[in-house]
Amino acid sequence: MNKMKPLIVANWKCNPTSLRKAKELFEQVVEGVKKEKNVQVVICPPFIYIPTFKQVAGKAVKIGCQDCHWEYHGAFTGEISASMAKDAGCEYIIIGHSERRRYFGETDDVVNKKLKAALEAGILPIFCIGETNEERRAGKTEAVLEGEINGGLEGINADDFSKITIAYEPIWAISDGDPYATKEMPTPENIKKAEVLIKDLVAENYGKKIVGAKIIYGGSVNAANSKSYLKEAGMSGLLVGGASLKAEEFVKIVKNV
Ligand code: PGA
Repeated sequence: MNKMKPLIVANWKCNPTSLRKAKELFEQVVEGVKKEKNVQVVICPPFIYIPTFKQVAGKAVKIGCQDCHWEYHGAFTGEISASMAKDAGCEYIIIGHSERRRYFGETDDVVNKKLKAALEAGILPIFCIGETNEERRAGKTEAVLEGEINGGLEGINADDFSKITIAYEPIWAISDGDPYATKEMPTPENIKKAEVLIKDLVAENYGKKIVGAKIIYGGSVNAANSKSYLKEAGMSGLLVGGASLKAEEFVKIVKNV
């Protein structure tokens, strides 16, 4: 089997505030990473910018989105389906991000339906899991990850699972936009431990053959710490929030791979 290229995903969240600024950032990133052949860069902007970006993306970056509705179409005011996202040019989709779970009430059941909708539409899901600080302090990390993995992957077969990338994002490490803000950060050892746990949970669902599950890390990734998560913790890639909004910083993260 070919070794997968590290996956570096930019999660722009609800930023930037205009198409002009978004296009500028997008073009700077494309320019900065276009010669990097050993990495797969994915940019997940707000939906509304996607059609414009698709025209200028070229081969250097792939486009993704940050959410979708679980239904194919219908009377669901304000929603965008996975098949619409696919049609607009999305190849990846972030599902179950902690901000969706926290601010929009997404349960494991909803996440499961969205994962299935994305797979059905032919988009590669980036399935987010992670514990809060309270859960971590209470020694519940394992139980939380187990619940999210088992609930999120319910009824998804091994073939489809192989298309999913799991993003381990300890919620206590996710930034409010500044990935250098002082706060507690997981060490590569912490992450390695979580990765082993996730692989065990996946193996319980799919059997040992899936031990090669793709697991990426997210939470205050910046150009100064990105290497340690890839090299020391051995993650398959990174999900980058705040740092992906600064072209120079994000390009450095990509080049550090
Ligand atoms: P952050 O966000 O890099 O700003 O911590 C990561 C994420 O929420 O995906």
